[in-house]
Amino acid sequence: QFNRYFVDNGATEWWLTGLKTTLLVTVIALCIGVVLGLLIALIRSTHEQTGKLKLLNIVARVYLTIIRGTPSMIQILFFYSVIFATVNLNNIVIGGIAFGINSGAYVAEIFRSGIMSVDKGQTEAGRSLGLNPAQTMRLIIIPQAFKNVLPALINEMIVLLKETAIIGYIGTIDITKAATLVQSRTYDALVPLLSAAIFYLILVMILTYFMGKLERRLRKSDH
Ligand code: ARG
Repeated sequence: QFNRYFVDNGATEWWLTGLKTTLLVTVIALCIGVVLGLLIALIRSTHEQTGKLKLLNIVARVYLTIIRGTPSMIQILFFYSVIFATVNLNNIVIGGIAFGINSGAYVAEIFRSGIMSVDKGQTEAGRSLGLNPAQTMRLIIIPQAFKNVLPALINEMIVLLKETAIIGYIGTIDITKAATLVQSRTYDALVPLLSAAIFYLILVMILTYFMGKLERRLRKSDH
């Protein structure tokens, strides 16, 4: 019975490909999302505090509105069938980019709330020590903000990992797609779908474990 679902007819390869794709898309998206999110958060915070970067702030707001206002499903199909339609790019990379740009919008707001959560006195203290605004942000505000937003950031990572389940729509075999392929070969839905769910669960638990560790280590310096 086990062979039917995990070995026969190339099932092993599907599951392994699926696992690899899910992880790869998540990692690519995470990297893009965090960098993009931080950038947008910095633009928005700088504008809020100083009134500078007016144009960039408008661009950032348009980006946030569009990305958060439309389904990730549509976005991913749009990237695949419109933006990268004529570009010869690996589907996994397209998915990673699409999810990265999607996640960036949520990460931006997470970082922005983190920056706002640091007391204004910290900026004043940094400035009166002779640091310029950029140094104050980088050396004083960001490290404290990062610690404050870590739980929300972990949340976003979990959402992102699970959200990649729709990537099968652009011709990529991820964990979910692998499950449906095995399902169509075995005429059984229970085992493949349950297996896929367990794979995601294990991945999320591993992620949560290591991020929880990081969080505790960062908190240590508070005492
Ligand atoms: N699936 C929903 C959508 O289409 C939720 C996306 C949430 N994504 C996130 N990275 N927090 O927009």
